[in-house]
Amino acid sequence: MAFKPANNIQDLQYFGEFGGVNPSISDASTYTFLSAKTMFDTFEGNADGCYLYSRHSSPSNLYLGEALAAMEGTETANVTASGMGAITPVLLQLCGAGDHIVSSRTIYGGTYAFLKNFAPRFNVETSFVDITKLDSVEAAITKNTKVLYCESVSNPLLEVANIKELAKLAKKHNLKLVVDNTFSPLSISPAILGADVVIHSLTKFINGSSDTVGGVVCGTQEFINNLRNVNNGACMLLGATMDSLRAASVLKNLRTLHIRMQQHSENALYLAEKFEADGLKTVYPGLKSHPSHELFKSMMNEKYGFGGMLTIDVGALEKANELMELMQNRNLGYLAVSLGFYKTLFSAPGSSTSSEIPEDEQKEMGLSDGLIRFSIGLDADIERTYKQMHQCMKTLDII
Ligand SMILES: Cc1ncc(COP(=O)(O)O)c(C=O)c1O
Repeated sequence: MAFKPANNIQDLQYFGEFGGVNPSISDASTYTFLSAKTMFDTFEGNADGCYLYSRHSSPSNLYLGEALAAMEGTETANVTASGMGAITPVLLQLCGAGDHIVSSRTIYGGTYAFLKNFAPRFNVETSFVDITKLDSVEAAITKNTKVLYCESVSNPLLEVANIKELAKLAKKHNLKLVVDNTFSPLSISPAILGADVVIHSLTKFINGSSDTVGGVVCGTQEFINNLRNVNNGACMLLGATMDSLRAASVLKNLRTLHIRMQQHSENALYLAEKFEADGLKTVYPGLKSHPSHELFKSMMNEKYGFGGMLTIDVGALEKANELMELMQNRNLGYLAVSLGFYKTLFSAPGSSTSSEIPEDEQKEMGLSDGLIRFSIGLDADIERTYKQMHQCMKTLDII
């Protein structure tokens, strides 16, 4: 039967303490116990339904976590203070000194910097591979490898990972497949395709209003319990906990995610087709020209399209900068990093979100100077937006 993530969210019924239509916000960092014995049992992890301290868990965070677990089809989830606050504890929980990670080389710059520059301080080494080439992925696995890491749709090159095949490889070599699904919520459900752990930066499409940072780890009850363990859990001990007030606001925004994703995807497909027809080098998984178009189609859930992210290449950084400034002046979007906002956001990844990746490596992976990454907004009249963007490109002799 087809997996329907938005139905799973819709079906969650949470009442507030006084019958409110939204769950009550737990405005407390610590919790009382009626008996000292219950406090002891809670610390030992043996008192279900008792809260001990909000860095560990809080009612508001659990409501949001359960909603995201329902969306991803995992047993449970743990929300965190940022996307990086989800990624780094997961990797540190799964790997210790001497262990090895095989990672896609086209990933968010912060994750790349963590794996390349920070994790080696703890003797955790990473091999970066072209994730679309399953042979090179398998060839990079060593006896010390513990984790296979990728993004379902990669930042910023929009490469698509074959999650089913990667999950088979992970099983064969006894690895955990960890997938960052930030670019494709609802469209792709990595856990249903075989991933062990699914991560999101909630900062992006899921929250959708560019007013907070947040993250989530979705996985088995056992793994999430491990992350929260008071003695050796990376989430508990590294402390990147989401605030309860924020968890409540992200949960309310999650309720409209399906409508927003439909509009982001519809607008992005419209613009991608027009830009390509104008002769621009355009990358969008919804275009037939995308090397993984068929793969994306074979993995996607019905209705949510190919996502809101696209890239164009205008040849040189100066041209890219001129175009982005002109589009911002004409109120077509903002020159800003991040994604998933109601308004279009654009940036040149080579000099911003992927600047952690050395220039020669950027070249090798096809991340060119003139690349502009667009997070397409919720524009009600995308034809009007296109005409104005087209005018900007004409003015600058780009087309
Ligand atoms: C794909 C992806 N994963 C993770 C992150 C990190 O998330 P956060 O900024 O919420 O820590 C980002 C941020 O840009 C991202 O694009």
